[in-house]
Amino acid sequence: MAEQPQAIYLKDYQVPAYLVDATTLRFELADDQTRVRSTLTMRRNPDAPSAPAPLELHGHESLELCRLAIDGQDLAATDYQREGELLSIAEVPASFVLECTTRIHPQTNTALEGLYLSGGMYCTQCEAEGFRRITFYMDRPDVMSVFTTTVEADKARFPVLLSNGNPVDSGEQGGRHWVTWEDPFPKPAYLFALVAGDLQHIERPYKTASGREVALRIFAEPKDLDKLDHAMDSLVNAMRWDEDVYGREYDLDIYMIVAVDFFNMGAMENKGLNIFNTSCVLASPQTTTDAAYQRVEGVVAHEYFHNWSGNRVTCRDWFQLSLKEGFTVFRDAEFSADINSRTVKRIEDVTLLRTAQFAEDAGPMAHPVRPASYIEISNFYTLTVYEKGAEVVRMLHTLLGPELFRQGSDLYFERHDGQAVTTDDFVCAMEAVSGRDLTQFRRWYSQAGTPTLRVTDDYDAATQRYRLHVEQLLPQTPDKLEKLPLHIPLSVGLLDERGADTELDGGATTVVLELTEQRQSFAFEGIKARPVPSLLRGFSAPVRLQYAYSRDALVFLMRHDSDGFNRWDAGQQLAVEIMQGLMADYRQGRALQLDQALVDAYAAVLDDETLDPAMVAKVLSLPSEAYLSELSECIDVDAIHAARNFVRAELARALEPALLRRYEALAPRCDYAPSADQVAQRSLRNLCLSYLMALEAPAHLVRARAQYDGCDNMTERQAALSLIAHSGFEVDAAAVLEDFYQRYENETLVVNQWLAVQACDPKPGALARIQALMEHAAFDLRNPNKVRSLISTFCAMNAVNFHDASGAGYAFLADRIIEMNRLNPQVASRLLTPLTRWRKYDEARQALMQAQLRRIQGSGELSRDVYEVVSKSLN
Ligand code: PHE
Ligand code: ZN
Repeated sequence: MAEQPQAIYLKDYQVPAYLVDATTLRFELADDQTRVRSTLTMRRNPDAPSAPAPLELHGHESLELCRLAIDGQDLAATDYQREGELLSIAEVPASFVLECTTRIHPQTNTALEGLYLSGGMYCTQCEAEGFRRITFYMDRPDVMSVFTTTVEADKARFPVLLSNGNPVDSGEQGGRHWVTWEDPFPKPAYLFALVAGDLQHIERPYKTASGREVALRIFAEPKDLDKLDHAMDSLVNAMRWDEDVYGREYDLDIYMIVAVDFFNMGAMENKGLNIFNTSCVLASPQTTTDAAYQRVEGVVAHEYFHNWSGNRVTCRDWFQLSLKEGFTVFRDAEFSADINSRTVKRIEDVTLLRTAQFAEDAGPMAHPVRPASYIEISNFYTLTVYEKGAEVVRMLHTLLGPELFRQGSDLYFERHDGQAVTTDDFVCAMEAVSGRDLTQFRRWYSQAGTPTLRVTDDYDAATQRYRLHVEQLLPQTPDKLEKLPLHIPLSVGLLDERGADTELDGGATTVVLELTEQRQSFAFEGIKARPVPSLLRGFSAPVRLQYAYSRDALVFLMRHDSDGFNRWDAGQQLAVEIMQGLMADYRQGRALQLDQALVDAYAAVLDDETLDPAMVAKVLSLPSEAYLSELSECIDVDAIHAARNFVRAELARALEPALLRRYEALAPRCDYAPSADQVAQRSLRNLCLSYLMALEAPAHLVRARAQYDGCDNMTERQAALSLIAHSGFEVDAAAVLEDFYQRYENETLVVNQWLAVQACDPKPGALARIQALMEHAAFDLRNPNKVRSLISTFCAMNAVNFHDASGAGYAFLADRIIEMNRLNPQVASRLLTPLTRWRKYDEARQALMQAQLRRIQGSGELSRDVYEVVSKSLN
C-alpha cells in the first residue's frame, strides 16, 4: 500500500533556501506531448540560515524529466534525488543557472491542473500547486521571479498564443509560429498562465486615473464572441471603482481574460491573463439569468481586484490564503453593493454564509480562516477562507470606520508591494493607522467554529435604563483547541414603541458594541420605555444570534426596523420559528396549521408598493431547506420539505389575489436589460409565479407556460421552466423540458441549467432520472460544470431524494466520487461535502453514509484531496 499522505504545518514554515531571480520558459506544443524548457537564474537566499542547504524543487510525479543542468553542465541521475513531489540536489553554487527540460501530456490531463486542453485550446491552471505539473520549480508563493515565456505551436490550429505581460517578439517557420511574452512584475509560479487556441476577442481601451493607456481584451471561442460585452462593462466598472475607493490602478499595458469550458473553479487571477470558467464570463439576455449576470460582474471584479490584493502583494505560504481571498471577497462584495442594491447583496452573502459556511464550520473539515495544517491545499479553498475571511475583514472595517480602514489598506499596499506576506501583516497595518490593539481580534484568524451570542435584556422604568447582557459561546471543533473570547463588533439599534430608532450615543441610531469578554453587559440611559432591540444590524459579525423575540416583536421589526438587513432577517426568523413548529407537528402526525401572523406580515409586505421589489422578493422568500437543515440538531429532510411546502401553499392560497395582481402589474414593458430595476421587478414577478404554482392549479400552469413561451430573456424562461418541470403536471413538465433542450442544445451553459433543473426536481424517482441523464449526450463527467450541474445539484438541492432512506443516493454519490478520484481529484473531493455531514442525520442514515465513506476509503489509491476529506470525516 502507498504511504499515507502527511499533513503540512504552519508552524514549520521556513524561508526558501534559494531565490529565482529570472525564469525563462519555452513551450513547444505538439499533439502527443508538450516539451517545456526552463532556464532559472538562481542564488542562495541571503535571509536563509547560513549553512548551505540542498536545492529542493517541486515536480509532480507525472513529470518526465529530460534534462537537468547547472551552469551548462548536465547532471547525471546520481547528482539528484527524486522522491514523491520533491527533487533535491545536494550541492549547488551560491549563484547559478539551472536548466531543465520536461515532457508533459496536456491531452490526457483530466485533473485540469497544470497545462491541459479545454475543448481544442491549451490553457493552464497553476494555483495552488499546478506549476509543478509543468516543470521542476520552487513552487511556493514566497518565491517570486520575473517570467519570460515563449509559446510555440501549429499556426493554423493555434493562431492565438498568450502568456503573462506584454508580447515582445514573435516569428514563424514551416507552419509553426511562436510568441515571446515578458512579465516585468516578479510573481510566484501560481500566477503563471499560458493559452493557445483558435480564439477571437473584443477589445476596449481604458485610461487609468493617472492617464496610462491600457488595452482590455476578452477572448473566447468565435461562437461566444457576442457574449462578452457584459464582462467588459463589468471590468471597466471594477477598474474605475478600485481607483476611486482604494486608490489602486492597473499596472500593465494589456489586461486579458480568456473564457474556457473546462475549469475546476470560477476564475483565476493570473497576472495580466485571467482565465475564466465560461460560466463566470459569458452573458447574453437569451442565455443568461439575472443571477448569472450578477455573478459575472462579481467574479470579473474579484479577479481584477486580485491584481493588488493577491498579485502585487501576495501570500507568504498557503496558510495565508485568506490574506488575498478574504480581502478580495470583501472588496468585490462592496463593489457589487455600490453598483446594485447594498441590502440585497448583503442578504445574499449572509444567506450563503449562514447556510453553507456555518455548516462547514460545524463539520469535520472545520478550520480557522488561517488553517494551522493541511494535507492537500486544494481542499482549503473553502467558504471559511473566502466568505468568513471576508467577514473578518468587514469587522475590521466596522471597528476602524471607513477612513481609517482605507488608510490601513494604503499602508498595507505601500509596505508590502512586491512581497509575499501574512494575514498578520494585514492586521498590523490596520493597527498602525488606528493605534488600536488588535491582539484579541487576531483570534478570528486562528480559532475555528461559529460563535453563538446569547443575548438577554432588562429595562428599569424608574431609572430609564435599558441593559443588554451578552454571552459568547465558542464551540468545540475537530482541532480540540481551547477557545478564548473573541473581539466582536455587535451593531445595535433600539426601536421605540412607534418603531422609530432611539437616539443613542451623540445622536447616532446605531452603535457598535465591542464584545471582548465571555459575558458582558451594556447599559443605555435615558430610554423612555422598553424598546425592541435590533441586534447585529447588517450582520456585523459572523455569529449565531440568540435572543428570545416574541412573534409580535419580529413582525414589528419586519415593519419598522430602519436596518434593511434586519427587517429581512426578522421575517426569516419568524418563518423559521413557524416552520420549526410545523416540522414538530408533522413528526407527531398532527394536522398542520399556519399561524395567521405570517400571512398578515407577508400580505403587508406584498401590498407595499413603496418598497424596492427586490427587497419584497427577498422578504417573501421562505428560508431554504438547506438553512432549515443547518439550524436543525438532527436533520429530518422529510419534515423540512413537508413543512416548507405546506407554508408555501398556504401563503399562496391566502394571498392569491395579491400575488396575481403584482404578477400582472410587473409584466415587462421594455426590452431586457440587466439593470437594477429590471432585475428587481423580474425577481418579484418570478417569486409571485412560484407561489401561484404552489397551488397546482391549471390556470397558473397556463400562466407559467405563457411566460415561458412569451418572454425575451433567460431569467423569465428559466424560472417558468423550473416551476413547470417541478410541478405535478407531468405531461407539461416533460414537454417544456423537451422544448428547452431543443432550443438550447448548442448552448453548453444553458444545457447545464437544463441538467440542474432536473437534478433538483423533488418529485419521487429523481435518482433514476439523474442516472438516465448521465448517459445523455449533454453530460460529460470530465467537464466540472456538468458534474456540478447534475450531481452536486442533486446531492445539495434535492434533499428528499438524495437522502432517501434506502441509501441509494449515497451509494450513487460514492460511485461518482470513486470515478472522479482518478479523473479529477479536486472535483471528487468537493463532491464529498454532503457525505461529510453524516453526524447531522438520524442513526439509520448515519450508518448508510458512513458505510459509503468507508467504501470510498477502501476503493484503491486515493488522491490526497479525497483521502484528506474522507479520513477527517470518519475520524
Ligand atoms: N484564486 C481564484 C480566485 O479566487 C480561485 C482559484 C483557486 C482558481 C484555485 C483556480 C484554482 O479568484
Ligand atoms: Zn480570489
